[in-house]
Amino acid sequence: MNAATQLRLDVPEQRNAQQGERHPDLNRAHVRFVGLGKTYNGQQGPVAALHGIDLAIQRGEVFGIIGRSGAGKSSLIRTINRLEQPSSGRVLIDQVDIGEFDEDRLVALRRRIGMIFQHFNLMSAKTVWQNVELPLKVAGVPKEKRERKVRELLELVGLEGKHKAYPAQLSGGQKQRVGIARALVHDPAILLCDEATSALDPETTQSILGLLREINQRLGLTIVLITHEMAVIRDICDRVVVLEHGQIVEQGPVWEVFGDPQYEVSKTLLAPLQHALPQELQSRLQPQPQSPNAAVVLRLQFTGSATDEPDLAALFSALGGRVRLLQGGVERIQGHALGQLLLAVSGSSLGAQQLRQRAGQWAQQVEVLGYVV
Ligand SMILES: Nc1ncnc2c1ncn2[C@@H]1O[C@H](COP(=O)(O)OP(=O)(O)OP(=O)(O)O)[C@@H](O)[C@H]1O
Ligand SMILES: [Mg+2]
Repeated sequence: MNAATQLRLDVPEQRNAQQGERHPDLNRAHVRFVGLGKTYNGQQGPVAALHGIDLAIQRGEVFGIIGRSGAGKSSLIRTINRLEQPSSGRVLIDQVDIGEFDEDRLVALRRRIGMIFQHFNLMSAKTVWQNVELPLKVAGVPKEKRERKVRELLELVGLEGKHKAYPAQLSGGQKQRVGIARALVHDPAILLCDEATSALDPETTQSILGLLREINQRLGLTIVLITHEMAVIRDICDRVVVLEHGQIVEQGPVWEVFGDPQYEVSKTLLAPLQHALPQELQSRLQPQPQSPNAAVVLRLQFTGSATDEPDLAALFSALGGRVRLLQGGVERIQGHALGQLLLAVSGSSLGAQQLRQRAGQWAQQVEVLGYVV
């Protein structure tokens, strides 16, 4: 039985393929986890780090993994190059189960999968050039070919002028560029990034993300990325999965998960991206109107699922009275408008619940937060 036939037989989630981009075609997946579990032998007994992971990552996509500390993100990503051996289930790369690979095939597999880390893992006694060249030397690549490759990669990552520098002489961003160049020496098909920008300042993070995006587009690499920074997911990922206690709690296109997170953990993780209610407004909010001219405060959420941007003139005239904008705006993720508006409506002939219903024609979620004078 070949790998493809085998897959078709034991894949109950095959039907998901019909549901569009949320559940991509499993038979074309670049990386697939099937019922994956990982249990460590900890000092105080077994630690279940992952269980029942079913997930497909498509070729050429930038795929994000988020979750609280200890959720199992690193354990999951490290099964892709078998730095971690799964305790149960399978990892398929290009439909091939890597669980049965012997040492030789594992070495070949790991060359096809580059990895970069938060702390760069560079050799401090070697120059930039030597750091990138080393894996090629280990693989027995002839000198001329090595030189061509290292030169080409250092140019790609923008370190042409730093060949002879030592890691200690580089900034964090430059060190990560060396890390990226080194990860690409064997022309990998997949790049794994475990917190690759976590040690960098926001501006350097943006430049590294720009580089990763360029690599993804120019070289067609599949990128699997773990981060605690939600803005990184928003800026670069196509799809995202949320892990909690070693299980998948939700997954989907970034705009969908970010626009309308379904679970407590996702909401908590994404809270820094949401604009909190300003303190000053919060303190003025009353649960009941304290005077006849009190304004109703509405929160309108745009989850990105509507095809049109909200028509504000139509919205305001449907609400009636005087509508003031307290806070808000929309941003675009993958072409979808996501965001929220906080409005104070006064002098309308409609009650709070009627206002909420009316506003619901324009926004996907509407809440009455209270009243202000
Ligand atoms: N080698 C190990 N031995 C024992 N337990 C481990 C080992 N590696 C990880 N664990 C445990 O497995 C669970 C998942 O760890 P993992 O490193 O995958 O989490 P993570 O989501 O990457 O966390 P973080 O965001 O802090 O990096 C944790 O409870 C962790 O303590
Ligand atoms: Mg980790």
